[in-house]
Amino acid sequence: MATHPFETFCALHLDTELVALDLSRLYAPDVDAAAVRARLATWAPSCEAMRQLEAGAVANPDENRMVGHYWLRASRLAPNAQLRGAIEDTLDRVQRFAADVHKGRIAPQMGGAFDRILVIGIGGSALGPQFMASALTSPHDRLAVHFFDNTDPDGIDRTLDQIGVRLSTTLTLVISKSGGTKETRNGMIEAAAAYHRAGLDFARHAIAVTGEGSELDRVAKARNFLGTFPMWDWVGGRTSVFSAVGLLPAALQGLDIADLLAGAAAMDDATRSLDPLDNPAAWLAFAWHEATGGAGARDMVVLPYKDRLELFSRYLQQLVMESLGKQFDLAGREVCQGIAVYGNKGSTDQHAYVQQLRDGVRNFFVTFIEVLQDRQEDRPDLEVEPGITSGDYLSGFLQGTRTALTDAGRPNLTLTVHDCGAHTIGALIALYDRAVGLYAHRVGINAYHQPGVEAGKKAAQAVIDLQHQVVAALRRQPNSERTLADLAAAAGTDDLEAVFWILRHLSGQPHSGVDRVDGDPSPAGSVWEYVA
Ligand code: PA5
Repeated sequence: MATHPFETFCALHLDTELVALDLSRLYAPDVDAAAVRARLATWAPSCEAMRQLEAGAVANPDENRMVGHYWLRASRLAPNAQLRGAIEDTLDRVQRFAADVHKGRIAPQMGGAFDRILVIGIGGSALGPQFMASALTSPHDRLAVHFFDNTDPDGIDRTLDQIGVRLSTTLTLVISKSGGTKETRNGMIEAAAAYHRAGLDFARHAIAVTGEGSELDRVAKARNFLGTFPMWDWVGGRTSVFSAVGLLPAALQGLDIADLLAGAAAMDDATRSLDPLDNPAAWLAFAWHEATGGAGARDMVVLPYKDRLELFSRYLQQLVMESLGKQFDLAGREVCQGIAVYGNKGSTDQHAYVQQLRDGVRNFFVTFIEVLQDRQEDRPDLEVEPGITSGDYLSGFLQGTRTALTDAGRPNLTLTVHDCGAHTIGALIALYDRAVGLYAHRVGINAYHQPGVEAGKKAAQAVIDLQHQVVAALRRQPNSERTLADLAAAAGTDDLEAVFWILRHLSGQPHSGVDRVDGDPSPAGSVWEYVA
């Protein structure tokens, strides 16, 4: 079996202070590394486009918006004093608010001190906070963190059960840029009801993070929430982690938000280079392009060998797939772009799907993420056999799997960071969001809108509207058996399938009164009854 020459590794390896990248295993051992580097050099126009985006160009033309998440970690770059002031003022408020909560100056209704937060949000308003909370948690956390990130009642109950009687010392953050997302609204209503059942005033335990004038903003002001923090239209949901969306929960948890921002800013400095050959984000975006043919031909499997980075692949899944998964390019041509992303962590996944990666269908490329520091500095090393630690095994498994995949001709790249501290987490987030921007520019799409998400929201609302009609039809004739066709007609629709789904769901709820009458097992012949 041919092995990769060390010279190829060196030629396709970028070492910077923050991150190292190895692209050599994307290719066969006889690859012409000089030709690869020449292709990478052609990414200069994309680097230039990112410079213009950072300077305030309207990079989201559909929504006529600037794309300003880079300013959140370097406010001096914001294109005017007003935006600069808004960023700095919000950061200052976040820090003061968290300090006031930690010192008990902002306290729960029944006294004492807040000892946990419940974050209610979804998509970009949850994934970043979840990733940072899990990556950076430590015994020194000031407040425990819980999430509602869905409208699943059982999931909500489960979280409330975990919180239990500590709801009285729980600060709830309702986070929604648009302020109108139904999952988040439902979570807020469920949380408010739980506080009410516990004899507590929700508003005295609630904060909103949202756009000014949104539905949530109005609710927060009308009900006199403890406070509101802003979201701006020039920050996209999936890149909002360094606005109050991510910084407020992080600061309350006790994470070092200054270091997070410094790490992101340092990575921005490194990836602002107009020379793709020394720009880590250009290397990464280029690697995706090489691996996928610039057309999503392979899925991106993200394998961090570090438990703390377990949620990174979920975070990246949204960042990459919502940003790059687009039907049309900027010229309006149908392109159906995107890169599918999935992953969990190594070496755990070696005992799961890595079997297929090694031997199965060739429809992916792997990103190994290596973290050099095995343990926090204040923890003792332990030898599991003479001279060898658990961390040595983790490293060995990473190298071993990299070799096994390479030998089987499975493309992979490796990203190496020193540790998993706040600075590095900030840097990783910044690295990937710039890589997404560069890739989007290269393939000519708008990375900053999400028409598909909006389409799903509208379609769900149509189902809820129809459910109102179906329930009204059921209630008009209680305690009588009705065919599906009859109920659909009474609800004013010929969409029998949608009505069937609604009835079947209602029949699963013990208190709905809707039952399917035994008889014809087919959906078309189904008979239903509303027991009043
Ligand atoms: O990235 C995005 O834009 C989306 O995933 C949103 O974050 C998500 O839909 C939630 O939206 P909102 O924050 O408005 O509630």
